[in-house]
Amino acid sequence: MSGLFITLEGPEGAGKSTNREYLAEQLRAAGLDVVLTREPGGTPLAEGIRELLLAPCDEVMHADTELLLVFAARAQHLARVIRPALERGAVVLCDRFTDATYAYQGGGRGLSVARIGALEEFVQGDLRPDLTLIFDLPVEVGLARASARGRLDRFEQEGRAFFDGVRSAYLARAGAEPQRYRIVDAAQPLVQVQRALDGLLPELLGLARG
Ligand code: TMP
Repeated sequence: MSGLFITLEGPEGAGKSTNREYLAEQLRAAGLDVVLTREPGGTPLAEGIRELLLAPCDEVMHADTELLLVFAARAQHLARVIRPALERGAVVLCDRFTDATYAYQGGGRGLSVARIGALEEFVQGDLRPDLTLIFDLPVEVGLARASARGRLDRFEQEGRAFFDGVRSAYLARAGAEPQRYRIVDAAQPLVQVQRALDGLLPELLGLARG
């Protein structure tokens, strides 16, 4: 595939939504064909699965159910949006992907890396992001920002231990494969986060132009 696959990761409250728009704008201004999308979601059917995943629910969702829903949404998103865009040579900028599964279902819920890896292989084959930006910030800062936004979704209702697991899993993955990950300090004021993204832009443009 000739396109470039960039994913954005991090906990709740890391400012991913604002920063993904900013990054997409910069890449488009440089003349690139950018597909901005998100997970879980990115197609009408996958957005329906997202609603199931995020809606608080009286029935406790089994961790395996959660894992399978995440990958069901991903299979649809890959088939309808991500693979076609990469095949035509676009830059796909995706807000969350399988690193979120290792962080939330793995680090948060405690599912094994082997189980997640088996589904990753099944759904994605050998497709992996070319580059992943992790918007990192202390757990308490992220949780405070998320609760300030109002109603909490099913994940945001989780406690400190869950999000400690999420953060550790992200940082462990970045540490194990430093060539694929860039860590952005998301606790800084927004303008400084955007300056850090500006600093990454030459590398992203270089990768996109091959
Ligand atoms: P967000 O897009 O607003 O950050 O919300 C998506 C939520 O879904 C977030 O809490 C993380 C969670 N999630 C998983 O648990 N596993 C996954 O694989 C993905 C993509 C997201």
